[in-house]
Amino acid sequence: MLNKTFWEHRYEHQQTGWDLGEVSPPLKGYIDHLQDPSLRILIPGCGNGHEALYLQSKGFQHITVLDIAEPPLAALKEKSGENGRITTVNADFFEHNGTYDLILEQTFYCALDPSMRQRYWEHMHQLLDNNGVLAGVLFNVDFDKQGPPFGGNEADYRKELKPYFHIAIMEPCYNSIQPRMNTELFFMLRPR
Ligand SMILES: C[S@@+](CC[C@H](N)C(=O)[O-])C[C@H]1O[C@@H](n2cnc3c(N)ncnc32)[C@H](O)[C@@H]1O
Repeated sequence: MLNKTFWEHRYEHQQTGWDLGEVSPPLKGYIDHLQDPSLRILIPGCGNGHEALYLQSKGFQHITVLDIAEPPLAALKEKSGENGRITTVNADFFEHNGTYDLILEQTFYCALDPSMRQRYWEHMHQLLDNNGVLAGVLFNVDFDKQGPPFGGNEADYRKELKPYFHIAIMEPCYNSIQPRMNTELFFMLRPR
């Protein structure tokens, strides 16, 4: 079962093969184009939060990270420093409430059981301001092994998210890390 105990066990035993050790290049590319440091930004399933630390280094003022597992959040708080501007929330994404201008997706969707996908889009929609944006990366590949990560494909994503979002961008990533090359889509969505 993919619950708090499962994920905390993975962090406690350093079984975190998903962790890039640095900001994901597609997200870095996207963040580098953002102009407004006052954006209210959420990163759900943030893990070690490399994207949050990058946002902080770029001067963003309202960064919230959320994870069901506590260990990576404690580590991230330390890394963000005494004057850090990263708010950490140790909670289940589906129980979190708030309003954000931007939500970033980086290997969170693929960590959820596929039965949760409809709820994922619905809850993302609830958390976003009417003028908000959901942006990030999704796998465009089926994995041989049982997940997580769970794979998927562009056609299914387009169908699933249609009741909740307009697609501004959904296209193959040109700047994935080498092992993920040709298996990722970069997307940017606006709420309906
Ligand atoms: C594959 S990891 C990705 C972590 C990070 N985004 C990265 O790329 O390194 C998935 C993360 O989602 C978290 N997670 C899984 N289910 C969750 C849920 N329902 N609510 C909040 N976080 C969850 C896990 O604890 C884990 O940190």
